[in-house]
Amino acid sequence: MHLLQSVILLGVLAVQALAQLSTYESFLQAASEWPPGPGAELVPQQPDDELTAMMAEIDPARIQAIITQLVAFGTRNTMSNQTDPLRGIGAARDWIASEMRTFAATSGGRMTVSVPSYLQTPSGSIIQNTVISNVVATLRGSTDPNRIYVVSGHYDSRVSSVTNFVDDSPGADDDASGVAVAMELARQSQASLSFSSDLTLVTPNNAGEEQGLFGSAFMAAGLKNMSADVQGMLNNDIVGSSTADDNTTDPFNIRMFTQGIPSTETLSEITSRVDIGAENDSPIRQLGRFVVEVASNAVTQMNVQMVYRPDRFLRGGDHLSFIDQGYPAVRFTEPHENFAHQHQDVRVVNGVQFGDLVEFCDFDFNARVARVNGVALWSLAQAPGTPKGLTMDTSVLTNNSTLKWTGDPKAAGYEVVWRASEGCVLDACDPGGQCDEYDRAAVEGQCAVWRTCGGRKWV
Ligand SMILES: *[C@@H]1O[C@H](CO)[C@@H](O)[C@H](O)[C@H]1NC(C)=O
Ligand SMILES: *[C@@H]1O[C@H](CO)[C@@H](O)[C@H](O)[C@H]1NC(C)=O
Ligand SMILES: *[C@@H]1O[C@H](CO)[C@@H](O)[C@H](O)[C@H]1NC(C)=O
Ligand SMILES: *[C@@H]1O[C@H](CO)[C@@H](O)[C@H](O)[C@H]1NC(C)=O
Ligand SMILES: *[C@@H]1O[C@H](CO)[C@@H](O)[C@H](O)[C@H]1NC(C)=O
Repeated sequence: MHLLQSVILLGVLAVQALAQLSTYESFLQAASEWPPGPGAELVPQQPDDELTAMMAEIDPARIQAIITQLVAFGTRNTMSNQTDPLRGIGAARDWIASEMRTFAATSGGRMTVSVPSYLQTPSGSIIQNTVISNVVATLRGSTDPNRIYVVSGHYDSRVSSVTNFVDDSPGADDDASGVAVAMELARQSQASLSFSSDLTLVTPNNAGEEQGLFGSAFMAAGLKNMSADVQGMLNNDIVGSSTADDNTTDPFNIRMFTQGIPSTETLSEITSRVDIGAENDSPIRQLGRFVVEVASNAVTQMNVQMVYRPDRFLRGGDHLSFIDQGYPAVRFTEPHENFAHQHQDVRVVNGVQFGDLVEFCDFDFNARVARVNGVALWSLAQAPGTPKGLTMDTSVLTNNSTLKWTGDPKAAGYEVVWRASEGCVLDACDPGGQCDEYDRAAVEGQCAVWRTCGGRKWV
């Protein structure tokens, strides 16, 4: 098993060395070959047979059935009826919970389902007292239950007016598509003993997203309050269509939004980060790079496009609630959105159909997004936990960089991986050659990396 951990070094250009290269062509060649040196080119981890078989079980027809059922509740506006058994957000909440309970029933006690809720008084777009309920399936780990990964969607929906809780609000793409991802993974993960025997997976379906991320803020604050070690949160919001508003399709790409500097960093932490140019190296970006590496392959049939932004302009989502509590969280969203199909009253204008309708969904695309989540989660679950307290010693002027961290005691060891500082994803890894303590005792890891190559060097 290729146990990738994200430890990043920074590269600088040693300009004086370039003068030694005789021609401009050899300069270009040397630059394009960088970084050679110790270690090997990083070969992305491929899903093994077990994971491949599990991902083949993710079924577009079941995703279609989930979305169709959620749309059939008429409206899922957060302020809609909570007691009517057929129409409104309460009916949707109860249906999701009862479906998840059928998954839990065959889990041998590993999975539990809960519906934590609270009363939200009027605030922002919540205009009346409203009970906000999340529907949460938890697959609890045995040895490391406090290490938690979250995959989520939001089950509330909206039309043109966010406070309109009367009219039909199908919300097929936004965000029954994300709920379908979370529900399929809840079903899949409990079926596999190896999915997370150690750690805890949480698949919530949050409410109150459209009015201001209320459900996810409640959930993330609760996790923080119980000192939960959330090591990754994957938010799926608008992941159900591959067709742009000009009718072109882009079925094999999925965008993943990754914030740079965590919102919780203090001014002095931000200053230290900027001092060493680590604005691009936050735990959120590293989680994103891990997902790109493990989940862009033939099993998912998806190319994960990392976007260096928290979200699209003027938009937000439930991952931000987790980032606000200091947890690394990313957002998946389809590559080309059609704004006529989201946050719109269902209507026809000049022959053009507006509204977030099932007919605009691509269930095969949605299933591929579920596989991206599944492969990423499974790979996180199989790997040791994120190293804690990573530091780089910059106290002495040297070509060597000494990294220290506190590792997961159950880890066999860690690989140090690196990329060009301007590179998006990881290029190369060193599975131990330069490092002192890559053995089982390496709880306190220490690794010196030294190299000069191609006119550039690591410091
Ligand atoms: C919700 O629906 C139930 C059942 O149809 C009805 O009795 C109740 O008055 C409705 N509640 C609200 C707030 O409209
Ligand atoms: C945090 O935990 C305390 C003690 O268990 C509890 O009283 C409080 O309501 C919790 N707050 C949140 C936001 O969950
Ligand atoms: C996209 O396809 C729909 C349905 O076939 C059609 O009504 C619409 O005019 C097309 N839009 C564009 C921009 O081509
Ligand atoms: C540091 O790297 C430079 C450039 O490659 C090299 O000239 C120098 O000898 C190195 N210094 C040490 C102490 O290794
Ligand atoms: C740098 O690391 C290399 C490889 O571990 C080692 O041989 C060398 O002595 C180190 N140099 C310094 C100046 O620490």
